Amino acid sequence: MITQTNHKETFRFVPATSVEIPPERVAALLKSEWELFTKQTGKSAEESKRSFKSLPLGVTSSFQHWDPYPISIVSAKGAWMTDVDGRELLDLSMGFGAMLAGHLNPTVVEEVKSSLETGMLFVTPSPISTDAAERICRRFVIDQVRFTNSGTESTMYAVRTARAATGKDGIVKVEGGYHGSYDPFVVSAKPPVDEIGDASNPIAHVPAGIVPGDIYVVSYNDADSLERIFEKSASKIACFIIEPVMENLGIVLPDAGYLERVRELCDEYNVVLIFDEVKTGLTAGHQGAAQRLGVIPDLITLAKSIGGGLTLAAFGGKKKYMDFVTN
Ligand SMILES: Cc1ncc(COP(=O)(O)O)c(C=O)c1O
Repeated sequence: MITQTNHKETFRFVPATSVEIPPERVAALLKSEWELFTKQTGKSAEESKRSFKSLPLGVTSSFQHWDPYPISIVSAKGAWMTDVDGRELLDLSMGFGAMLAGHLNPTVVEEVKSSLETGMLFVTPSPISTDAAERICRRFVIDQVRFTNSGTESTMYAVRTARAATGKDGIVKVEGGYHGSYDPFVVSAKPPVDEIGDASNPIAHVPAGIVPGDIYVVSYNDADSLERIFEKSASKIACFIIEPVMENLGIVLPDAGYLERVRELCDEYNVVLIFDEVKTGLTAGHQGAAQRLGVIPDLITLAKSIGGGLTLAAFGGKKKYMDFVTN
């Protein structure tokens, strides 16, 4: 069965029937898979043990850890990786989309080599910065762009720009949405299900040690609850930050009309609409999700795939908002 409620540029397949698998069968399958995993990954186990001494959780980002231990990689090319046990593995993650162009893509390698011969860091303008900015503006149909080093930096600066433009501080985000490690974005990023209330009126979950500021949480695909929050608090809300297609909750598609209604509400209540395209940037369409879905935000944030594996990120959008970066 195909449901028709999703945005017409997207495809959502929902099976009409399902067959229950007995829990004993699931347990037996898991047991044999774990046995196979541990048998084939002895050197990854050793690497993990070694790395725990110098790295928290033995990894460079907590997302990379899983039980009993993650696979340790020595090299990668195209869509394939080689692990420390010498196995060739098909990479179905591609660095959360950052490696969309493939590992060691020849064009990327060529550009990096030529940069190493022409200079690495000038800290003053260069035609290559303007060339890159013009390409990004053309592709994502934005007026101006500011480059940054990470997705977190991009989302943080986009929020700061929205605050400057509106003179307001509050942020609305989607429950379960992740926009980086800046304090407000950690709120309700992975909340405990028994502490977050009803889906139509989520309780913001603030992890220990986080100073979130004025933050409001809303369910994805629920324009009515967004409207209720705006009715009550829009005088304090600077922006609504959202992944146009949720890629951090599995992949959740926008219902037909949802993003269009979000756009209307943001206009009506003078709230800056930020599309976080750090993941969707090139993976949801060659010009990003906004262009594909036809709903245009005020600001977008980019990272991962635009760098082809290098540390590159950006935020940008309409000139009337980017003027607050200028000024
Ligand atoms: C949608 C989204 N926004 C922002 C970020 C933060 O990006 P970074 O890890 O480069 O700081 C991530 C990271 O996964 C992300 O998925």
